[in-house]
Amino acid sequence: MSSFPIEAFGGVSTPFYYYDMPLLRSTLATVCACRPPGSVVHYALKANSNAQLLKLISQSGLGADCVSGGEIEAAVACGFAPDKIVYSGVGKTDAEIRLALSLAIACINVESVAELEVIDAIASECGVVAPVAIRVNPHIDAHTHHYITTGLSENKFGIDISQLHAVVDRVLNMKHVRLRGLHFHIGSQITTLQPYEALCEVVNRLQDEMELRGVKMDYINVGGGLGVDYEYPDEHPIPDFASYFGTFARLLQLREGQALHFEPGRSIVCQCGTLISRVLYIKEGLHKRFAIVDAGMTDLMRPALYQASHKIENLTSQGALCKYDVVGPICESSDSFGHDVALNEAQRGDFIAIRSAGAYGESMASRYNSRQLPGIMLGE
Ligand code: LLP
Repeated sequence: MSSFPIEAFGGVSTPFYYYDMPLLRSTLATVCACRPPGSVVHYALKANSNAQLLKLISQSGLGADCVSGGEIEAAVACGFAPDKIVYSGVGKTDAEIRLALSLAIACINVESVAELEVIDAIASECGVVAPVAIRVNPHIDAHTHHYITTGLSENKFGIDISQLHAVVDRVLNMKHVRLRGLHFHIGSQITTLQPYEALCEVVNRLQDEMELRGVKMDYINVGGGLGVDYEYPDEHPIPDFASYFGTFARLLQLREGQALHFEPGRSIVCQCGTLISRVLYIKEGLHKRFAIVDAGMTDLMRPALYQASHKIENLTSQGALCKYDVVGPICESSDSFGHDVALNEAQRGDFIAIRSAGAYGESMASRYNSRQLPGIMLGE
């Protein structure tokens, strides 16, 4: 079983997120050691924008990938330099575009022609030229949950690959927008490298086509998506960044002076976070035994929303393994963390750890049922 400082949990009210800061530091060190020379890694804040984590991530030298004005402000407040911030999202408001331009962030990743026109108009009003990258939907199946696959044909993200050349023509005619790059993101929790190999082929082909037209990109942004091991977090606390980065270094044909950008979120923060909860009641049903815990889908909504499975452990008991349905207190039957989970025999008050919760856990928490947001503990 994994080691958690249970003595320190005693006086703290549950549920809370426990962040293993040494693991986050080692993960960041691995990323910095493995990334291809000259590449820039922008951490995707949507995975977790807790200020303590953001400060550590900015100190490690990574940039920030933001999807709202709020995330841009959080990034700047936590030490990310504006020229290391990129901004994506299909529905940027005028105020958010103004904020991005006033801070002179590195790039706005654009997802539609309508958005480009608005950026051009706002940049003109502000007397600046907006650096943009076009997000291209490359029709690659990332073989992941349908809610988090984004690179397949016709969805709200990005510009269809078949429309790219027409859109490039439009951008080149705009006075207050400068085309700097192509942006791709094919999905999240991708657990094989094959979709990334396919992405490299598409990027190479598009680059050849652009070159024939005499259009040069300053950078290629291949997005994020590298998956983590939810089943065996202790065996794989740090994802295989060497193979991931190596795939791009090996297969992408970058042009002279062209930079490569990455946007990992989950792979950076997922394994350092654990949701700590206490058993409120053990309820003996007709055919099942329920462990009712004080954490719910409001604290970690991935199981309810994506049927995601997280490893669950009883940190208090050494008793025999028994099967439980581990459920939360929210008035929704989807408020369940797992069926038939083998836990050491549990009783009221036991600490329950829901692992691999550092990504899309705290950042997706809500106050449904008028609950408090989960607390935080940093482990050193
Ligand atoms: N770049 C873009 C444009 C994205 O849309 C995303 C994630 C990322 C980067 C970071 O992807 P990552 O490295 O974290 O896979 N809430 C879902 C995941 C949604 C991902 C959305 N986009 C979950 O809990 O599984």
